[in-house]
Amino acid sequence: MGLTRIPGLLFGGDYNPEQWPEEVWREDVRLMAEAGVNLVTVAVFSWSRLEPAPGVYEFGWLDRVLDLLHANGVAVDLATATATPPPWLVREHPEIQPVDAAGTRLEFGSRQGYCPSSPVFRAATVRLARAMAERYREHPALAMWHVSNEYADHTAECFCAESARDFRRWLQARHRSLDGLNAAWGTSCWGQHYTDWTQVEPPRKAPGPVNPAQLLDWRRFSSDALLACFEAERAVLKEVTPDVPVTTNFMSVLRDLDYWKWAECEDVVTDDAYPDPADPRAAVKAALSYDLMRSLKRQPWLLLESAPSAVSWRPVNVPKDPGVMRLHSLQALAHGSDGVMFFQWRQAKYGPEKFHSAMLPHGGTATRRWRETLALGADVRRLAEVAGATTRAEVALLLDWESWWGLEAPESMPSDRLRLHELLLSWYAPLHARGVAVDLAPPGRDLSGYRLVIAPNLYLCTAEHAAALAAFEGRLVVGPFSGVVDAADQVHDGGAPGPLRDLLGVRVEEWRPLPDGVTQELVTTDGTRLLARTWTEWLDAEETEGTDVLARYRGGPLHGRPAVTRRGAATYLSCLPEDPAPLLDDLLTAAGVTGVAGAGLPADVEACRRGRYLFLLNHGAGPATVTLPEPGTDLLTGRALPAGPVTLGPRDAVVLKPRPTTP
Ligand code: GLA
Repeated sequence: MGLTRIPGLLFGGDYNPEQWPEEVWREDVRLMAEAGVNLVTVAVFSWSRLEPAPGVYEFGWLDRVLDLLHANGVAVDLATATATPPPWLVREHPEIQPVDAAGTRLEFGSRQGYCPSSPVFRAATVRLARAMAERYREHPALAMWHVSNEYADHTAECFCAESARDFRRWLQARHRSLDGLNAAWGTSCWGQHYTDWTQVEPPRKAPGPVNPAQLLDWRRFSSDALLACFEAERAVLKEVTPDVPVTTNFMSVLRDLDYWKWAECEDVVTDDAYPDPADPRAAVKAALSYDLMRSLKRQPWLLLESAPSAVSWRPVNVPKDPGVMRLHSLQALAHGSDGVMFFQWRQAKYGPEKFHSAMLPHGGTATRRWRETLALGADVRRLAEVAGATTRAEVALLLDWESWWGLEAPESMPSDRLRLHELLLSWYAPLHARGVAVDLAPPGRDLSGYRLVIAPNLYLCTAEHAAALAAFEGRLVVGPFSGVVDAADQVHDGGAPGPLRDLLGVRVEEWRPLPDGVTQELVTTDGTRLLARTWTEWLDAEETEGTDVLARYRGGPLHGRPAVTRRGAATYLSCLPEDPAPLLDDLLTAAGVTGVAGAGLPADVEACRRGRYLFLLNHGAGPATVTLPEPGTDLLTGRALPAGPVTLGPRDAVVLKPRPTTP
């Protein structure tokens, strides 16, 4: 059983028929059949067309759309249509419009104009979700529910009075008493001691830096407030249609929402990914986000939205060169997606996204874009057997949202240059370049089964996190500025690495962030020179028995001091090496981890195993030769390939199904 009842891989996109006359719908379904589309997402922004007045529903047009799609073999990922409240609701209840940190109430005229904590908004969404579920519970096209859309895209937080009340309720549940809150927030600093709950407000724009503990709780609350919106709709859908999977589309590596927590409430993880064709790191960033999606529920996921070519929301929207849409789509499949879906099916004629690319462009079918859509549909069908295949990773990168929120608190850190996404990428990129499969994991999870676990940063580290890491039996690496604060953002007694001190056998005396452009040399015990940027630390290691120094700083005030240490199987890095490759190679060797294609993968080629299938993707603009580790059949071309060298054309790929070994 796949993500839905549909066999094979899913192929399609967002479909907005309400933007087109009905005769166009008939052309749409004909062309969908031609392209092999088997799933479309419908009604994402349709609230004002489905409920034009309070409690008055106009489902007729949607009935016809769903019937037409079903008659043409296309299933539906049906949105609950709650992503944008209609004008009548906003005018009747202006208080549901979100307020920003400076106190400005945002106007109607865009989308996602709602306060997540508004009881009026939540009740209205639940009513609509129920009406949708009751209307379409038996509809044969219904394959999946799509709740709202990209939570936190435009509205990640709201600072209105209703949100303040909800925040206080949330704080009371977490801290029990005002004394508890005052202690957790450290309100003795800067005279913030509260004597009544009504004095507690969201961290609105203030004269100077806001209390970081308040901000951390605010981020937790804001993620939970949106999750409560999702859960309210999900509860209704599950009540009326218990067997239909429920999802909401995630936004790749997004700071605002704790996706570990969110994924637990979803049946299927779906993601919207828009790698920028102009970004040289687009492929590696996409791979990281896909591995996160696969790791969230440790099962296949679905790329629910991607761009066939250019988007319309960057300052400069660069299109995808020939072959790039296909390659990016294959990359998502390689990393565990059970389909390829786009925003959107037919390019819009009006509105802010009229220049956003689509599967079927303004120019119609006599276009490269359409030919590429047809060709991709055919490729997706050729790969049908990949659906459901799972990935086995021996390396895990730890990612914790609370730690991320704490680390990126503005105006109160030793350096604002430590950005979690970049820290993850600094390890992920060399692993990716070596064809090493990587899972993401939260720090408290049971890590058994991995050989190497890397925590690029664990600024916020609790005793439970430390216990989970201590229980892990493989190789562990912990990056700098870890074990600094507890769950309330208060510095651990005795300083960093706090609860990790015994495990790592080090003590940090001083943070020494580096100004931009400044480097610090370090030298490993075997004489390898590395350069650190951005961050170094004054570390005490020798005082702990059993801690070995693997590298020392050379030059400057840190000269001779430990830079990289190891105690047992746990390595600590007190800096950010520009290129961690030499350290990583030693760690991989010690952990017994090898990349899928072995050493010597050409720079632009990505190698990724999913189940027994080996995906080789050439992201480069020139040909590249790769050594196949085993013979097999390329599912994309049907060619039998022997083990040994195979040349991939520019932006071309091979999906190797290994030949079964004869006993
Ligand atoms: C997101 C949204 C879509 C659309 C696309 C454009 O994925 O969910 O509605 O706006 O971005 O890239």
